[in-house]
Amino acid sequence: MNVKMKHLLHAATLALSVSAAAIAAEPAEVRLTIATEAVGPRIEPEIYGHFVEHLGTGVYDGLWVGPESKIPNTRGWRNDVVEALRRIEVPVIRWPGGCFADDYDWRDGIGDPAKRPVRLNRWWGRVPETNRVGTHEFMDLVEMLGSEAYIAANMGSMSPRDASQWLEYMTSDSKSALAEERRRNGRDRPWKVKYVGVGNESWGCGGNMRPEYQADLHNRYATYLQDTLRVASGDGQRNDHLVEVLMERSGAHMDAFTLHYYTTAGEWEDKGPATGFGADRWAKGLQSALGIEERIVAVSGIMDKHDPKKRVALYVDEWGTWHDPAPGTNPGFLQQQNTLRDGLVAALTFNVFHRHTERVKMANIAQMVNVLQAMALTDGPRMALTPTYHVFELYKPFRGAVPLKATLETPRWHEGEIELPAVDASVARAADGSMVLALVNLDPWRTARVQTNLSGAVRGRILTADALDAHNTFAKPNALVPAPYSSGANGAPLTLELPPKSVVVVSVPR
Ligand code: AHR
Repeated sequence: MNVKMKHLLHAATLALSVSAAAIAAEPAEVRLTIATEAVGPRIEPEIYGHFVEHLGTGVYDGLWVGPESKIPNTRGWRNDVVEALRRIEVPVIRWPGGCFADDYDWRDGIGDPAKRPVRLNRWWGRVPETNRVGTHEFMDLVEMLGSEAYIAANMGSMSPRDASQWLEYMTSDSKSALAEERRRNGRDRPWKVKYVGVGNESWGCGGNMRPEYQADLHNRYATYLQDTLRVASGDGQRNDHLVEVLMERSGAHMDAFTLHYYTTAGEWEDKGPATGFGADRWAKGLQSALGIEERIVAVSGIMDKHDPKKRVALYVDEWGTWHDPAPGTNPGFLQQQNTLRDGLVAALTFNVFHRHTERVKMANIAQMVNVLQAMALTDGPRMALTPTYHVFELYKPFRGAVPLKATLETPRWHEGEIELPAVDASVARAADGSMVLALVNLDPWRTARVQTNLSGAVRGRILTADALDAHNTFAKPNALVPAPYSSGANGAPLTLELPPKSVVVVSVPR
């Protein structure tokens, strides 16, 4: 190539990139047309549920510091975390696992704490499990938060009798030996246990079972678990055959079937860092998050064949981001930072759940504190709330609301081979008659201008930042928090400007 040609090429490239920048400076034009009719049953508050496992510092240090700790606590549960969780109104907590559940003997966690056996936490770092937090402590947390209990029973390594005795111990009002034992251990009134999981990931850490074997076993265990909603361990490996077999053979013995779906910004073997990533991993992460919809549609389709009346609910009882472990931490503790990208993943996932309320009746983010896509991170007495926490808080008006039909016309944007919509949206009618709108601008560079068929002024809040990996730290716990947002004027058509990489939730008065 001669010098003249080189100059020409350079000029052409420059012109191209200048025009690309000019285009990027122009907002993406989006149209949102909202109808008044409902498109599904209400959004169950339980889709904003949580999951707590004996894993890393998820329970010990993260939630529980013990009554003797200098860290302010209530009967062992740290006050700062409990107060933060109260603000997001935790509807349901799944416990004690996860993989841990199928290796857990509930008897280890009752009675005098000083006499409880220390076991090995086989799945997560092979660290000692003191059993200091057991049934009584967990149920105390459930009551403090005003949540429902979702107990994951051990089907992998214990008998149906163990599972049914645990349930009786917790819930019986009788004079049975188990109820009396509970009373001797300090709890007179029975607890309410609304949900019981029959094993966890039975295809993997829950016993490496064939679906056919699991179905038989499920039916056997479910027979002895009465007066509670029975949740069958479901898919986590895109295994349609498993869904078929469980629904066909065990559908009559379950109230819900589960799906586990983790979002990664890379391959499973190369998930990518939680911070310090570029636009490629931003796009990959959001693409992976949106992929949950395809799985919900596939699993629901198979469920429809066997349960056309939709008696059996779908619980997405593990979901969230899974990144490389934070540098310097025990890889078995699954500790990771949580950035604006995680916040957008949460918002997109909620929007997907809102589109499938006919089946999806519960979801549990993995996990509550210090593990995977957590609400809060702790370090000794310090605590930082995450962008994901703030999205849970922003989406509170959607609980119990009815999703409305909304047509979104959005351009798409590209990052390498990945193509994604500029905007994703969810619209619902809240119980008080107001309309709630959630809008996510997935594009990291370009503002979106959303024209609606509504008019008037709206108010709400926005979560956004300049950096792709903006996050909160113990030194700067409020680096990324929602800010007030308002748009429109009385009588004027409503248009909402969404900055790049943002989540906006507004309410339209009735
Ligand atoms: O959430 C971490 C683990 O992921 C759970 O223990 C298991 O069920 C899943 O594989």
